[in-house]
Amino acid sequence: MVRMRRLRVNETMRRLVRETSVSVDDLVYPVFVTEGSNIKNEVDSMPGIYQWSIDRLDEELDRIVERRIPAILIFGIPDKKDEVGSEAYNDNGITQRAIRHIKEYAKDVLVIADVCLCEYTSHGHCGVVCDHEIVNDDTLELLSKMAVSMAKAGADVIAPSDMMDGRVAHIRKSLDANGFKNTMIMSYSAKFASAYYGPFRDAADSAPAFGDRKTYQMDIANGKEALRECFGDIEEGADVIMVKPALAYLDVVKEVSQRTDYPIAVYNVSGEYAMVKAAAANGYIDEKRIVMENMIAMKRAGAKIIITYHALDVAYWLTEE
Ligand code: PBG
Ligand code: ZN
Repeated sequence: MVRMRRLRVNETMRRLVRETSVSVDDLVYPVFVTEGSNIKNEVDSMPGIYQWSIDRLDEELDRIVERRIPAILIFGIPDKKDEVGSEAYNDNGITQRAIRHIKEYAKDVLVIADVCLCEYTSHGHCGVVCDHEIVNDDTLELLSKMAVSMAKAGADVIAPSDMMDGRVAHIRKSLDANGFKNTMIMSYSAKFASAYYGPFRDAADSAPAFGDRKTYQMDIANGKEALRECFGDIEEGADVIMVKPALAYLDVVKEVSQRTDYPIAVYNVSGEYAMVKAAAANGYIDEKRIVMENMIAMKRAGAKIIITYHALDVAYWLTEE
């Protein structure tokens, strides 16, 4: 008889045979920065997550540094929005100013800049709109301008999240041409048109004013196509590829990880966070155990990097032990 239970007799034995672990080194924490001063504004649908003005940001940065979180993903929320998202590539825009501040105050924290137009456009779409259509190639120019502007401000990593075709190659070329050969690209490669982004659109004020994102983000039913997106981005020059959302798409993560040696990131998105927080607030689940189980699941599927709103808590729980 095979006695599997020999592997489980006590915690020490379980530690010895455990296949997967989560480390603070794996974590990326998203941060929302808004214009104005003295603002620490909790997002209704995301308890514990705030929009910060730059003058209050150090409070959050101190926690990030203290808990040794290696990287943050920054989202700027501009006051001024227009048709072409001008603030996205204004060297003095809210995101650029925030990045400069962070690189000054907490220079060892890696700053990943989300590159997409939806927080900056009046219509809330991720690209240029013409006759209610999102125009691919015109958008590439603006994304590249945005990426270079973020790199100039000090971003260590550029993370295009728009899902336009050809954007990784276009951005890579522009970064190189502007003296940013060493700026890394982490591409949102397999980004699905998911209802799980709902709370984020409150946090970043980026809901589309008409229609949806289904002509550029992926159909939620497609796994094979996700592989094509990932390998396409690798060909175009991505250094890290991402699958998003995470938990409902772990089959995709697993399959991609079996077929490439490139580092894989997952984005444990706002809706996934909101569901856990709501259930925990009602006492339906044990928050810490559920969150750690989710973290392990993402690692086990093959992710190296986990972008998560739980990052500060996870880092705390890991060091507490
Ligand atoms: C911008 C962007 C979005 C998210 C990350 N970057 C929103 C969207 O595509 O609508 C979602 C993150 C989350 O839900 O936590 N394109
Ligand atoms: Zn977008």
